[in-house]
Amino acid sequence: MSDEIKKGLLGIVVDETEVSKVMPEINSLTYRGYAAQDLCAKCKFEEVAYLILNGELPNKKQLKNFENQERKERKLSKTLIEDIKKFPKKAHPMDVARTVVSIMGLEDKDTKDNSHKANMLKVMRIFAKTPVALAAFYRSRKGKKIISPKKKLSFSENFFHMCFGKIPQKEIVKAFDVSLILYAEHSFNVSTFTARTITSSLSDIHGAITGAIASLKGPLHGGANEEVMHMINKIKKPENAFKWINNALDKKDVVMGFGHRVYKSGDSRVPTMREYFGKVAKIKKDKKFEKIYDIVEKVMIERKNIHPNVDYPTGPTYHLMGFDTDFFTPIFVISRITGWSAHIIEQYAANKLIRPLASYKGNQHRKVIQLNQR
Ligand SMILES: CC(C)(COP(=O)(O)OP(=O)(O)OC[C@H]1O[C@@H](n2cnc3c(N)ncnc32)[C@H](O)[C@@H]1OP(=O)(O)O)[C@@H](O)C(=O)NCCC(=O)NCCS
Repeated sequence: MSDEIKKGLLGIVVDETEVSKVMPEINSLTYRGYAAQDLCAKCKFEEVAYLILNGELPNKKQLKNFENQERKERKLSKTLIEDIKKFPKKAHPMDVARTVVSIMGLEDKDTKDNSHKANMLKVMRIFAKTPVALAAFYRSRKGKKIISPKKKLSFSENFFHMCFGKIPQKEIVKAFDVSLILYAEHSFNVSTFTARTITSSLSDIHGAITGAIASLKGPLHGGANEEVMHMINKIKKPENAFKWINNALDKKDVVMGFGHRVYKSGDSRVPTMREYFGKVAKIKKDKKFEKIYDIVEKVMIERKNIHPNVDYPTGPTYHLMGFDTDFFTPIFVISRITGWSAHIIEQYAANKLIRPLASYKGNQHRKVIQLNQR
């Protein structure tokens, strides 16, 4: 066996998957064989969620059933609503996301049942309830009345309704839907690998998704979309952008929203999300964020040849939609639950305990000296 260490599992293929394929060489990403851009143009998020979970695009009847099931499962237990009201107002919403999924695991009657049938039911509950729980926290921490989900609204419309009490123009809802489609799945990234690793010990789906959320929170992964907004806020205005980014690079800072482990010459999701960022900026009559965006991107490519990843355009887009910055990564969660779940199900179906080796470099065998002699 080779002792060569691949830190960060760089370049290591650990398993097979049928869920998605990232193709950096042709700058493409497919879910179950369909290009993500094509799905953004022709489908709504629920269709893509169905595709990721079931392997095929739904027909009208299948979609209707899926939507009905999702809408039926939106309701939270009274206990969970009471718990959310008691959460510290300053808690990070990603910690809230992690905690509510964990509480759902306490409440779910099928938690112990890891059969495929029970897992699909649990996935639907987590998928339907997590956005409702997050929106409840969005309001309760501001001292606002929690808004109940509405069955007649789509997944995205309902999220706006529960956070803001109103639904924006359909172009804004579409941009949100597109961001959810682009965030839904991305092969063996760190949170998905975490979910699969937890599953590999035959633990349960709530545990796997809880762990995945903790992993997504980090700024090197999903947390980057929040960091992008903090950066844009520090830059303040387009006139500062050129100097700010050059200074950051001179100091050898890591610039959030740029770079990717797999894509080295551009993230295939960025052009679509950039287009929708532009549409939202136009509706909101904003020029500032787009200008800052373009200047920082240009310098990053010219000086470092490092391209933006999808978190770069989603950050300012969610801001323009009115979301608090610390809710950007939780939005990523409500979408990625689909990808994680598909991988968890795939892992159960062909499981092998994930257990890599480490090269030990600590002290060699030592004798224990009794406490009174140390
Ligand atoms: C995503 C990320 C962790 C990928 O990292 P990786 O594959 O391990 O690549 P490395 O971190 O080793 O980067 C390779 C080189 O590019 C530089 N680099 C990569 N991303 C950079 C960034 N965002 N800003 C500045 N420099 C960057 C590194 O400093 C390194 O330079 P060096 O060789 O001179 O040391 C990294 O690009 C990053 O930290 N990006 C910012 C966080 C982010 O946006 N995450 C969301 C990802 S979707």
